[in-house]
Amino acid sequence: MARLQAQANWEYIPTHKRIRSIIKSYLSFPEAGTTCLDPCCGPGDALIEICPNQHLFGLEVHTGRALEAKTKNFINVLVGPFENCVISNRVFGFIHLNPPYDWVAGGEEKYEELFLYRATNYLGPRGVLEYLVPTGLFQASKAVGIRVYKFLLENYRDIQIFKYPQPEYSEFKQIVIFGVKKPSEPVTASLEWLEKQIARIITGDIPELSLQESPIYEIPLFNPGWVKTFRINYYDAELAAVDSQTLNLLQSESKPVLKDKLIAPSYLDKALLALLAVGGYIDGRMPGHILLGRYENREESNTETDTDSGDEIHSTRKVSSTVFYAMCKNPGEDGSRVVEIR
Ligand SMILES: C[S@@+](CC[C@H](N)C(=O)[O-])C[C@H]1O[C@@H](n2cnc3c(N)ncnc32)[C@H](O)[C@@H]1O
Repeated sequence: MARLQAQANWEYIPTHKRIRSIIKSYLSFPEAGTTCLDPCCGPGDALIEICPNQHLFGLEVHTGRALEAKTKNFINVLVGPFENCVISNRVFGFIHLNPPYDWVAGGEEKYEELFLYRATNYLGPRGVLEYLVPTGLFQASKAVGIRVYKFLLENYRDIQIFKYPQPEYSEFKQIVIFGVKKPSEPVTASLEWLEKQIARIITGDIPELSLQESPIYEIPLFNPGWVKTFRINYYDAELAAVDSQTLNLLQSESKPVLKDKLIAPSYLDKALLALLAVGGYIDGRMPGHILLGRYENREESNTETDTDSGDEIHSTRKVSSTVFYAMCKNPGEDGSRVVEIR
């Protein structure tokens, strides 16, 4: 029953408020601020409280929670599944990872591990991971437990594993794992040794998370406030309706037969435009969208004087560019919502 309830709410089990400040006490952040990510940020409060005054990035699949996070102190919050995101590798100084606790459809893998593998790509060298999971992850199956434990050893150093303090531990059986990202290296530990370590986690034979007087993990400075690629390939109808606010306009101007079939247009970034162009969609139709564009080919001529001979040298080169016309949120200076993108 508890699992069904959690699934209905997209596995929303927020990091407890008291635990957030204890986690924070383990961390020291650079004064200038560094890039921090929560790949399933809920309404955003956990990351905000763990990383005060840092440059925060989030993702969240639940539209309501994501829209709430967007109103807070984040540089960017993407709406949709973490699995669909496109993010530059090795750009974050810190990642708070309290993932959904469930099996991926098919029952082979758990979301906790998928999120761990993916998030690790985005953590920069010496970046700090804080991974908050239930002990049940290591009991889910022997294979899952060993995969996760080995992955941590292969990709992180200075790993410390703590159980929640009481009374939260008895109720929620959660643990917090810290680690510092290192270049990936194979681990040759025996199966017996790995099983012993995992048994210690399952039985709670590990130290308790406690408020630190001075921080243990120093978080490195990364591209403060700037991440080159941070986007998602996902259409969220609710978000598109809030963002574009053009659905009513489209409906009022469309043929009656199409009215109920229209969906709110969502923003297209340059990468998506390029994909559409490559897919031949320019001047074609996608469900609910029309993207107009054209290819321009022109010749550029240039004349230079040879400094030795004084002769004039004429050259021409062919220049091609693609021009798109797309609908945008706010009207431009000329009052039009159609923007030209070159
Ligand atoms: C355990 S809660 C953690 C919330 C927040 N990070 C915190 O620490 O309080 C997991 C969150 O993941 C979100 N979620 C579930 N599946 C997701 C997915 N595939 N991609 C992104 N977020 C997801 C849920 O909606 C939920 O808000």
